[in-house]
Amino acid sequence: MRYFDARIIENRALGNGYFSLRLGGCDSLAASRPGQFIMLRGDWGRDPLLPRPMSLLSVAPEGRADMLGRSVGRGTKLLEAALPGTRVSVLGPLGNGFPDPDPATLDLLVAGGVGMPPLFMQAEHAARRGLVDRCEMMYGGRTSRDLVLLGEMRALGLAPHLSTEDGSVGRRGRVTAALEARIEHHRTANPSHKLRIMACGPREMLWAVARIAEPYAIECHLSVEEQMACGIGVCLGCAIPARSRPFRYACSDGPVFLASDLVIPPAPGHANGGTP
Ligand SMILES: Cc1cc2nc3c(=O)[nH]c(=O)nc-3n(C[C@H](O)[C@H](O)[C@H](O)COP(=O)(O)OP(=O)(O)OC[C@H]3O[C@@H](n4cnc5c(N)ncnc54)[C@H](O)[C@@H]3O)c2cc1C
Ligand code: FES
Repeated sequence: MRYFDARIIENRALGNGYFSLRLGGCDSLAASRPGQFIMLRGDWGRDPLLPRPMSLLSVAPEGRADMLGRSVGRGTKLLEAALPGTRVSVLGPLGNGFPDPDPATLDLLVAGGVGMPPLFMQAEHAARRGLVDRCEMMYGGRTSRDLVLLGEMRALGLAPHLSTEDGSVGRRGRVTAALEARIEHHRTANPSHKLRIMACGPREMLWAVARIAEPYAIECHLSVEEQMACGIGVCLGCAIPARSRPFRYACSDGPVFLASDLVIPPAPGHANGGTP
């Protein structure tokens, strides 16, 4: 696989450092799966030298690829400021992706902050197959300014369960509390439903999701966002401890892993683990 040239055709500021980026010329991404990512680099000289990994939010057959970014450092700030027409280099689609939507399961999609794109794309895939009612989105952030593209989610047919740590919108607290509440709801209201969890967000959130899923024996898929240099399994910089092998590589074995294959640290303050 080689880098190819694409162009920014739209770059929309969403506030609080979030931006939605639309690229043209990405025909080779058309068959990408939700959870896959690209390595993206602008024509910005040597600083930063390395491309940046970005999840796909949506792809369309005419070569359009959408992403949601949040500026946290030099690379993402340059992307945030990039104007339509800017040429970028793209490698992808990379990584594995989430399992296909399944009419026999109810998928609980758990999105934390800028970890939302792969779950949006999963819901979009479900919607295209007439299965959006088999998905439930739980979306959390620190404040209301961390929850973006809500109109686009609703346009897919989702009714996202929102939570914010400051209570400025939705339920006050972490998205993991919303997940626990939805699991309990379904176990009471629809005990015959097979539940499945798919999550992407900050590392501590992912570990908390895994600890919630485990006692219920719910199949749980986590998309991890490690720092990456090559994105293709060459630099060995994205190793994470696993059970099936001492290490798995987030870029080439993942970024989506079964939680049961990862070494999940105990909850803070719990010597032997437990729910946060
Ligand atoms: C598979 C994958 C998919 C991703 N998808 C998206 C996405 O859709 N949208 C998006 O905005 N970001 C995404 N990221 C994170 C994004 O790649 C990083 O935020 C970016 O590389 C930071 O580059 P920078 O030059 O702006 O910041 P740097 O100057 O490199 O770093 C700034 C700060 O961000 C931290 N950081 C760097 N990389 C990561 C990372 N991977 N995860 C968490 N913190 C990091 C650094 O430790 C540092 O504190 C993804 C990462 C991976 C691995
Ligand atoms: S980023 Fe280089 S091996 Fe994963």
